[in-house]
Amino acid sequence: MSAIMPTYKRLPVAFVRGRGAMLWDAQGRAYLDGLSGIAVTNLGHCHPRVTQAIKEQAGELAHTSNLFRIPGQEQLGAELTSATGMDAVFFCNSGAEANEVAIKLARRLGHNRGLQHPTIVVLEGAFHGRTLGALAATSGEKMRTPFEPMVPGFVRVPRDDLQAISELTANSNIVAVLVEPVQGEGGVRPLDPAYLLGLRAACHEQGWLLMFDEVQTGNGRCGAMYAFQRLNVVPDVLITAKGLGNGYPIGACMARGEAARALGAGDHGTTFGGSPLACAVGSAVVNTLADPELLGRADVLRERLLASFNHHLTRPESLADIRGLGLMIGIEVTVPADGLVARALDQGAVINVTAGNTIRLLPPLVMSDDEADRLGRTVAQIVNQAAEEQP
Ligand SMILES: Cc1ncc(COP(=O)(O)O)c(C=O)c1O
Repeated sequence: MSAIMPTYKRLPVAFVRGRGAMLWDAQGRAYLDGLSGIAVTNLGHCHPRVTQAIKEQAGELAHTSNLFRIPGQEQLGAELTSATGMDAVFFCNSGAEANEVAIKLARRLGHNRGLQHPTIVVLEGAFHGRTLGALAATSGEKMRTPFEPMVPGFVRVPRDDLQAISELTANSNIVAVLVEPVQGEGGVRPLDPAYLLGLRAACHEQGWLLMFDEVQTGNGRCGAMYAFQRLNVVPDVLITAKGLGNGYPIGACMARGEAARALGAGDHGTTFGGSPLACAVGSAVVNTLADPELLGRADVLRERLLASFNHHLTRPESLADIRGLGLMIGIEVTVPADGLVARALDQGAVINVTAGNTIRLLPPLVMSDDEADRLGRTVAQIVNQAAEEQP
């Protein structure tokens, strides 16, 4: 029996080295990385500025606890608030944890307003993480049912449905709406820009917090530091993780206005969150991403990759839809999706399939044009193969 709990069906490959958009296994075989460790290594593997920050800070001081001032945390907080227009940040270690902060923050605000049962609106198709609060906000019976009873205090509505939102205005317990601007695990589904504008207006009118889970969409992934900056809708709470550490664990819950002041001393805490080491890495990432040319690569690479995919796809009927924003790419196929990931690995490419039949590509911003062409071609080839083998 393995010493690891079997919570993942793992692929039979172990990578031992990475550089940029490339990974190598122990046998020295190279793979093109179209997944970035699930939207984490947005700057590519072993980005020199990130590696240097880890080395330097690890040699100086890794951890002290939040019982003391942490200058690097204050610096990263200032960098993030200046990059986003938020007022304050709470640092933690993962996406689920950052969502827990947002959930507690919204509930705290509700209690400050005299509500006994503050309630958060969430969407069908949402994924917010596996801790109990984040899981209650997540959609999907398979993930939830084995862990019931769920944390109460959430109502779920269909995505892109403003009528469903306006029907909730009668519910005086609502304090916040939590959404992913592009649903990632739910099939790479961008929310309708008009819906997001409508949500913003409804939240403003009702005094609800608009909370964006940008764990997956953030940190350059969608062609802006955070996706909201491309969508012209500013949330009150901004949740992120994944790419903020480019492989080092860090999460952040940012907030502005009343939301930034909702949590007071003793309301929340973390031993590891916002350590000198994590924040040195976060600063290296944020400063590297402050380069419009690098962020602009998201759209350039998306276009090249999809042009190559379309060029090499031999049966157009294999394709149902292409969705996403920047380097969050969803290719919904009509061929059987089981086995596509293994086929890609055989051909030396790392990809993912989510929501049943959507190929999810999350390549790094540092991918070259040529690598994007190759990834698009490989994905077309595996879809072609699956189509040919269909009875
Ligand atoms: C939108 C979103 N929120 C939250 C999470 C959970 O993040 P973590 O796995 O770091 O807890 C994820 C992870 O895939 C995510 O995509």
